[in-house]
Amino acid sequence: MNTDKPAAAQPGSFVGAALLRCYNGWRMGQGPRTFYIETFGCQMNVHDSEKVAGTLIARGYRQVDNPREADLVLYNTCSVRDKAEQKVFSRLSQFKRANGHGKVFGVLGCVAQQEGAAIFEKAPHVSLVVGSASYRRLPELLEQAEAGRQRVTGLELDTDETFETEFARRDSPHRAFLTIMEGCDNHCAYCVVPFTRGRERSRTSAHILREAAELRDAGYTEIQLLGQNVNSYRDPSPARMNFPELLSAVAEVPGIRRVRFMTSHPRDFTRQIVAAIDSHASLCDHVHLPVQSGSDRVLARMQREYTRAEYLERIAWLRSARRRVSITTDLIVGFPGETEADFAETLSLLDAVRYDSAFSFKYSPRPNTPALALGEAVPESEKGRRLAVLQEKQREIQLARNQELVGSEQEVLVEGRREALGQWIGRTSQNRVLNFTVPEGMPDTIRPGCYAAVKVTRAGPNSLVGELSWRGTEV
Ligand code: 5AD
Ligand code: SF4
Repeated sequence: MNTDKPAAAQPGSFVGAALLRCYNGWRMGQGPRTFYIETFGCQMNVHDSEKVAGTLIARGYRQVDNPREADLVLYNTCSVRDKAEQKVFSRLSQFKRANGHGKVFGVLGCVAQQEGAAIFEKAPHVSLVVGSASYRRLPELLEQAEAGRQRVTGLELDTDETFETEFARRDSPHRAFLTIMEGCDNHCAYCVVPFTRGRERSRTSAHILREAAELRDAGYTEIQLLGQNVNSYRDPSPARMNFPELLSAVAEVPGIRRVRFMTSHPRDFTRQIVAAIDSHASLCDHVHLPVQSGSDRVLARMQREYTRAEYLERIAWLRSARRRVSITTDLIVGFPGETEADFAETLSLLDAVRYDSAFSFKYSPRPNTPALALGEAVPESEKGRRLAVLQEKQREIQLARNQELVGSEQEVLVEGRREALGQWIGRTSQNRVLNFTVPEGMPDTIRPGCYAAVKVTRAGPNSLVGELSWRGTEV
């Protein structure tokens, strides 16, 4: 039973439901209802939240920055690692007693899908639990929650639908996410995603291209194509475009100056993608190619379906591109059974590839995943040690990589300003942050959203510093 609601407002009671509505100030002409949404996890989740926010705004809600001011509090959650999963329960517990009264709480995303109705037991003040495969039903589910119904769920996973909405409320006015596919059909032994996002389903190329043109008309110049595994994009329409064809078609939308894509599975990464990058200046000089481990033995146990040599072959294709393409990756240390020799293979892979940036994680056992059956857990302290060693090595590589750019001129998309340092924040095509100043005597007409050419003067492991050399097009 929900102990945080007024006594009269218990589930199943008509009077209770009516009172609950009044209590929330909903549908009483007291101005717009408010919502707060906090997002954890990957860019897919960030963009899902943009779509959810747009759907709510279209229903008359107003977004607020503080959960305390909100009638509806939503957490869009990630369960890829245990730490990410714990965050949502810690957020929810803050409202258990104090400010929870009268609010409707919803858990969305991967934790919602994974835990399902068990969330109502852990956090009884939650009344809405919706996994990402059910977002199309969100308006209907919200209506039920608005009407005071408790324990509203959207947890169907077996769907061939994608979350199509014309209402996405994007966070940035310059860079836009665009979903091309959802779900994942791979069986990586460590990964919970197939259990939280369902099977692969692609949007039609016509829908994607129409959205790209609409984004251009709305003033966006950079598009990031999103999918759990973009390389397995399969156009369900008769056009039958494959991913490199779709990538080229988006790159050719007039007015779109930069196109990125995320994430590529190395097994499905083809030379055609490199050819597309070579033939389209608007395709950014950056590919994220998660390797996870440098050891063939571990890769096989992870069920990644490629070997170290096959992965390095793809790196060689990228290195043979006409432009210098920056390559980034994800790595896991301490996968079950990973020996010191396996770990040494991962370190040597870092030397072989010299990644421009890498996200690295300690292996975290996840519910339902095949890796749970492997046993041979690596002790937590050993995982921590390996992670520190790996991150220190990568830091040195990154610093050296960034130093190679000192003296060069880079085009940046200006994202914002750091007032305290008098610096503009820019991002290069290679996805590096390049903070820059405008030399004395040069008029500072820089604005967020414009493109500028910047001379790199200094390099750190995580960003570059430079000076404006000329002002590019304002868009
Ligand atoms: N433990 C640790 N890291 C994981 N990742 C995915 N699942 C796990 C897990 N169980 C990492 C992978 C993936 C990134 C998004 O998160 O490196 O590429
Ligand atoms: Fe996290 Fe994966 Fe879900 Fe993204 S898809 S939110 S990374 S569990």
